[in-house]
Amino acid sequence: MMPRKDMFVNLIIMVFVYVSAILDCGESSYSGEGGYRDEMRRLALVKATHIIRNGVSPSPSHSTPQVSQRSRVHHVTEYGADPTGRLDSTEALQQALSDAFGSHVDAHLMEGVADLGGAELHLDGGTYKISHSLRLPNISGGNFMIHGGSLRASDDFPTNRHLIELWSSSTSLLYEDITLKDLMINSNFRGGGISVINSLRTTIDNCYVTRFTTNGILIEGGHETYIRNSFIGQHINVGGDRREKDFSGIGINIKGNDNAVTDVVIFSASIGIMISGQANMLTGVHCYNKATQWGGSGVYIRAPGLTQTRIANCYFDFTGVVAEDPVQLHITGSFFLGNAFVMIKSLAGVVCGVNIVDNMFSGDYTGVKIVQLDQSNGPFKTIEEVIVDRNTVRGMVRKSTVARGSVWRNGTRWTVDFSKVLLFPNLIKNVQYTLHAGDAFPSHTLRNVSGNRVTVESEKPISATLHVSVDQSMVGYI
Ligand SMILES: *[C@@H]1O[C@H](CO)[C@@H](O)[C@H](O)[C@H]1NC(C)=O
Ligand SMILES: *[C@@H]1O[C@H](CO)[C@@H](O)[C@H](O)[C@H]1NC(C)=O
Ligand SMILES: *[C@@H]1O[C@H](CO)[C@@H](O)[C@H](O)[C@H]1NC(C)=O
Repeated sequence: MMPRKDMFVNLIIMVFVYVSAILDCGESSYSGEGGYRDEMRRLALVKATHIIRNGVSPSPSHSTPQVSQRSRVHHVTEYGADPTGRLDSTEALQQALSDAFGSHVDAHLMEGVADLGGAELHLDGGTYKISHSLRLPNISGGNFMIHGGSLRASDDFPTNRHLIELWSSSTSLLYEDITLKDLMINSNFRGGGISVINSLRTTIDNCYVTRFTTNGILIEGGHETYIRNSFIGQHINVGGDRREKDFSGIGINIKGNDNAVTDVVIFSASIGIMISGQANMLTGVHCYNKATQWGGSGVYIRAPGLTQTRIANCYFDFTGVVAEDPVQLHITGSFFLGNAFVMIKSLAGVVCGVNIVDNMFSGDYTGVKIVQLDQSNGPFKTIEEVIVDRNTVRGMVRKSTVARGSVWRNGTRWTVDFSKVLLFPNLIKNVQYTLHAGDAFPSHTLRNVSGNRVTVESEKPISATLHVSVDQSMVGYI
């Protein structure tokens, strides 16, 4: 339990970090605009509201604490749910859920969030048909788990909802430490799988989410939803599916901060993971949801101007990564197969603090570049600390922000052309060169770096080799 004073301090530090990040990079394009500031303000408000709320409302009034001899494991079959999936079990499940929230121990997690003492909604290994969302009760609760069975949407399930919903309608946080574990979630092509809205520290573990039309999993607001060891796909297949061009929906839609997706496979959806919040982390994710050639994306990062996303040790299988105006994006240790590439898309022309390093790219020798720029909305104008380097490339075209080259000539001009390898056109921020002329001591100078071509000229003709290294990122301490 974090003391309230610390929360305030953390909050102030967070806001400070975000604001300084905005000011450092792309100031002209983003500092005046509402979007990210608003989002930060909203987040600050959520937290502040919560802190204030804690002061005035200690616990929900209508769930009086009681010491019960009964087990806190609520078996849904004991509530009359039909584990064969033939009859509708919505009401039984909702009742069991309501009972699980009905008694809590005399303690809380975050102040204002009642501790349900490890209560469980146990699905008894059954498959249950439901016609409405299994929505957590509109009272606070935490330390609770739903697990051990399958849920399937009925043919009249509302298409704008999710099978399981953690949904705090106000900005105050109702749920903390809710675990959804060992579940098969079948949306029956009617809406989404799981939504986690304004919730704290939610775990989704070992879940198989399928046949969704909107989101497999939606995270909105809140804090620290951890999705791990799960399989998410609209259509059940193992790749090369003939319906692939029609795959739709989003595997995991993250509209919040500080979430993590770890060891997850997204095997069918138009977008594997959509990220429109900050400080999210993906590791060990395998995306083969919809190939780039069919218009799909493995990971789509729509957090322009303030991205703060880390992607490590992931596997992009015929589908890649798209990032809009990224500011602080780290892609490393990942494997891009089948011409999969990283697309950096310009909105206001800002790209800052981007590392694409130490990845493997493999393609079919048809000339696909490993990192590409989409400048259809205008060219990148603010380019700072972008490092694309040390990737291993087979069957694709290497792109890099640092490069080295040499040329021998007998004459007065030497030119090394970096235009094919450098990522940004006509941008060299730093050059180092050596003119190696054997025993001679020629006078020479750097003449020209435009068009990513470095030209050195000597006063008198001489036989010499020019060695050049260039950098588009200008990372240094001066
Ligand atoms: C949930 O409860 C709060 C406070 O008790 C109330 O304001 C809100 O309308 C309720 N929401 C729903 C969807 O019932
Ligand atoms: C370089 O060119 C000059 C004159 O054209 C010639 O005399 C000289 O032998 C050349 N040196 C080499 C190494 O080719
Ligand atoms: C530098 O090279 C470009 C072509 O790459 C040329 O247009 C320009 O005139 C050159 N500038 C100088 C100073 O030689």
